[in-house]
Amino acid sequence: MFLFLILFILLNSINSCPLTDNYLSRCHCEILTNGESYIKCHEKTLNEVPIFKRSFPYDRLILANNNIKNLTRSAFDTIKTIRRINLENNSISFIDNDLLRLLGNYLEELVITGDNIINSLEFLTRYPLKNLRILKLHRFNLSEVNLENVFLNMTKLEILSLPSCQLKQIPNLKNIHQLNLENNQISNTVHLSRSYVHLNLAKNFISSIILENNTQLISLNLTENILSQFSMDSIENENLQDINLSQNYLSSFNFSILNDQLLNLNLNSNHLLSLNLIVIPTNLLSLSISNNLIKQIKFSNRYSSLVNLDLSSNQLKSIEKHFLFEKLNYLNLENNPLDCNCQLEWLKTLILHQTKLNATTWTCRSNVSPISFLSADFQCASVSIPRVQTFNISYVKISIQYGLYIQWSIIDDKNILDYLQISISEPFYLSPKISPNQTEIFLSNQIKLNQQYHLCLILLHKYARDKYCRVFQTDKLIILTSNEIILERNEQNAIQTKDHIDINLFIMLIGSCIGGFITFILILTCFYLCIQIHKYKLKKNKDKTISYYTKNSNLHYPIYHTHSITCPYHHENLSNSTDTSQIDTSLSTTNLKHIYQTIDNHDYSSLTGESQVFDLWNQSLKHKR
Ligand SMILES: *[C@@H]1O[C@H](CO)[C@@H](O)[C@H](O)[C@H]1NC(C)=O
Ligand SMILES: *[C@@H]1O[C@H](CO)[C@@H](O)[C@H](O)[C@H]1NC(C)=O
Ligand SMILES: *[C@@H]1O[C@H](CO)[C@@H](O)[C@H](O)[C@H]1NC(C)=O
Ligand SMILES: *[C@@H]1O[C@H](CO)[C@@H](O)[C@H](O)[C@H]1NC(C)=O
Ligand SMILES: *[C@@H]1O[C@H](CO)[C@@H](O)[C@H](O)[C@H]1NC(C)=O
Ligand SMILES: *[C@@H]1O[C@H](CO)[C@@H](O)[C@H](O)[C@H]1NC(C)=O
Ligand SMILES: *[C@@H]1O[C@H](CO)[C@@H](O)[C@H](O)[C@H]1NC(C)=O
Ligand SMILES: *[C@@H]1O[C@H](CO)[C@@H](O)[C@H](O)[C@H]1NC(C)=O
Ligand SMILES: *[C@@H]1O[C@H](CO)[C@@H](O)[C@H](O)[C@H]1NC(C)=O
Ligand SMILES: *[C@@H]1O[C@H](CO)[C@@H](O)[C@H](O)[C@H]1NC(C)=O
Ligand SMILES: *[C@@H]1O[C@H](CO)[C@@H](O)[C@H](O)[C@H]1NC(C)=O
Repeated sequence: MFLFLILFILLNSINSCPLTDNYLSRCHCEILTNGESYIKCHEKTLNEVPIFKRSFPYDRLILANNNIKNLTRSAFDTIKTIRRINLENNSISFIDNDLLRLLGNYLEELVITGDNIINSLEFLTRYPLKNLRILKLHRFNLSEVNLENVFLNMTKLEILSLPSCQLKQIPNLKNIHQLNLENNQISNTVHLSRSYVHLNLAKNFISSIILENNTQLISLNLTENILSQFSMDSIENENLQDINLSQNYLSSFNFSILNDQLLNLNLNSNHLLSLNLIVIPTNLLSLSISNNLIKQIKFSNRYSSLVNLDLSSNQLKSIEKHFLFEKLNYLNLENNPLDCNCQLEWLKTLILHQTKLNATTWTCRSNVSPISFLSADFQCASVSIPRVQTFNISYVKISIQYGLYIQWSIIDDKNILDYLQISISEPFYLSPKISPNQTEIFLSNQIKLNQQYHLCLILLHKYARDKYCRVFQTDKLIILTSNEIILERNEQNAIQTKDHIDINLFIMLIGSCIGGFITFILILTCFYLCIQIHKYKLKKNKDKTISYYTKNSNLHYPIYHTHSITCPYHHENLSNSTDTSQIDTSLSTTNLKHIYQTIDNHDYSSLTGESQVFDLWNQSLKHKR
């Protein structure tokens, strides 16, 4: 019952604000759940501070957004226990110097918006304001006021806000934690050695700032200045957590200068061209670099806690895949000319897996009009590699005395050939670069007799390097005329995408391994069979042996095989031919992939002593067993 009575009295007092009838309808009083009581007068209804009936201990008086112009000597006399007064968004043109004479013991917060004319703070200094903690003066003319003196005795003042007060420099104030000097006329280089905790210097004309011993500084707002560079010492400013450098003229930014405690960095609306995140503060959570000119980003492999990354409105075409993106909760790539091809496919995959990331507004560059990131196909246009259409070695002549003479023809309609080169092994020889319009060459290289040579023609063009090789043997006395070889690369290889090259290479490697192995087995089998047949024939008819081998040698042998078989028999021939000044040989190959050489009958018909050799093999085989 007693409790009810108290509640009734309370409610009654709320319903009827301690105001004279004149103002009752324009204001209301309330108690918040946290126990704070306030009187709030409706916006745009008052021309002066209302008159209070009795001095009920209210906490706040809110008179914001009215047309109050004159703060007379007795304006607050009837509510002298008030703790917080808000006169924001009025246009106060007169403040009596004795205004606060009765409020000194209670006043904790005072917010006043002036009319840009008031240029004295006498009303604050005339009587001590021992408990004032928050002071916000907006639109005063404090260009000539010595602020250090004004706030000297306000030992409890913590938060000072002086936006649009025509200040020309940053005052050096004790005890103040939070200083807002937004939209003043602070210019040139600012030397900040005084340790504020939160400092807002937005909308000034600061061209550079020197932060020295600001160990307390946690947030620094330099939005809308004219900074063209920014530097700081990560050790002296070790506690900085927020830096806002948006809307300046920074064309580069060195992330190495930042301290590891930094949480938020805003570099929006600058002129940054690239982003080097090689050294990124380990605790950085949010990085905004919207509306710059960034074309490329470099990342480091260092650990990073980044969760918000805004790169909207830049010039990014592609971004390399990096694990940093996997941890993001927010990523904005809106308004970038993204090239949505296979190089950026990882990002699409990431977006589909990371439901937190929203790419609905991202777009991809296209010839016609930008297309939505989410509907792009992320295909890489297949790269068509042009090639030399026909490469035709028409004549090869090898002369022991004079060297090597080669003639060829090239059909290169697309003009892709840069130059060609001819190589011989062994001993290795590489010709100088030959102009693509040249069609013959004489290499006065010392060509040896009775040796196997790899002759390669290397076509070098801007897309690749093609090498065509032939094996030939300088062990013949046959003089052959022009012999056509048309070399054409497999049509399938003409159009190759990036991925196929690797697969082809792999298949080729495996293929050649298997091929080599099969060839080896074949050789063994062949030898074994040869020996068996030879044995058999020796028994039957010794005279028929030679004709058998002659018959067999009509086949096309791989040159490696024929060489090993024929070599011993050619010694005689070659020694005979040393006095002949010229030995000509030619390429008789017709297929690029299988290099064969014909062994003519008449070569073998003149051979003697085959049986001896096969006897030797026979012996060696027996030996092995
Ligand atoms: C403010 O009010 C006082 C007292 O009512 C008056 O003397 C003074 O002229 C007024 N000042 C202005 C600028 O209106
Ligand atoms: C003051 O006016 C501005 C602009 O009209 C408004 O944004 C702000 O909220 C107002 N302040 C208060 C405390 O109502
Ligand atoms: C502010 O005060 C200074 C000197 O007191 C004066 O020169 C300047 O014109 C004033 N500014 C405005 C906007 O009245
Ligand atoms: C500060 O207080 C001291 C005494 O407590 C007084 O002498 C001095 O004038 C005051 N200064 C200002 C600027 O009010
Ligand atoms: C900064 O701090 C160092 C050491 O604490 C001191 O030697 C130096 O004078 C200080 N600089 C300024 C400008 O206060
Ligand atoms: C910095 O100033 C801008 C512009 O006034 C404001 O929007 C922003 O909230 C401020 N940031 C901080 C950390 O004070
Ligand atoms: C920095 O300033 C911009 C522009 O005024 C504002 O939008 C942003 O919220 C601020 N960021 C931080 C971290 O204070
Ligand atoms: C960036 O800052 C670090 C540390 O201050 C310095 O060593 C480095 O040379 C700077 N890099 C550039 C490109 O200025
Ligand atoms: C993504 O952003 C768009 C536009 O901002 C919004 O309409 C949509 O609901 C968002 N989607 C998700 C999944 O958050
Ligand atoms: C190859 O070159 C020879 C001699 O220049 C020429 O007769 C022949 O027609 C050429 N073959 C091709 C396919 O170009
Ligand atoms: C061959 O090409 C070179 C330049 O590549 C040029 O100087 C030369 O005149 C050309 N020769 C012929 C015969 O076209």
